[in-house]
Amino acid sequence: MSKQNYCEIIKPMMGDKRYTHCLNVAKEAVSLAKQYGADPDKAYTSGVLHDITKELNPDKQLQIIHDGGIILDDIQKKAPKLWHGISGSVYVKSHLGITDEDIINAIRYHTTGRSGMSLLEKIIFIADFTSAERDYNGVETMRQKSKLSLEEAMIFGFQFTFSDLSSRELAIHPDELNCYNEIVLNKQKG
Ligand SMILES: [Fe+2]
Ligand SMILES: [Fe+2]
Repeated sequence: MSKQNYCEIIKPMMGDKRYTHCLNVAKEAVSLAKQYGADPDKAYTSGVLHDITKELNPDKQLQIIHDGGIILDDIQKKAPKLWHGISGSVYVKSHLGITDEDIINAIRYHTTGRSGMSLLEKIIFIADFTSAERDYNGVETMRQKSKLSLEEAMIFGFQFTFSDLSSRELAIHPDELNCYNEIVLNKQKG
């Protein structure tokens, strides 16, 4: 399927703001893929589709997850924000016929990260933080870090996420902790 087709598919599934975000994530993902040696086409596809189910209603998302044979753990059940990565990964497989496991995983884990992430998964995780329309406090630092080291950018992203989650007394998913721990432990070894 062409880039244009993916854009046409996602457009009616979300508001204008999120559509712009998806295009920007795809664009940033292509740029990171070229810099770090990942496949730019896969980066575009994963980026443009990463939030495909984010604006579907929560019950519909739970249905998609269920139909995909995925059982949510206790933390995921209480965190609707985590559902769209999982439901999106099932949706692109079942509705768009995407079979590439790396693209499917990049969509699935873009909200939490996980241990053992592929280059493509890291790129989508980061591009979601650094896409052109993002304007949170620290986004410029995040962008600079992403051009120097994907791992450094991820550590910075987790500092942001963990402090936000803990300040709101929300649970931190083990996938996020495992991802963070793996990166900092590898850094200490290196
Ligand atoms: Fe997302
Ligand atoms: Fe996103």
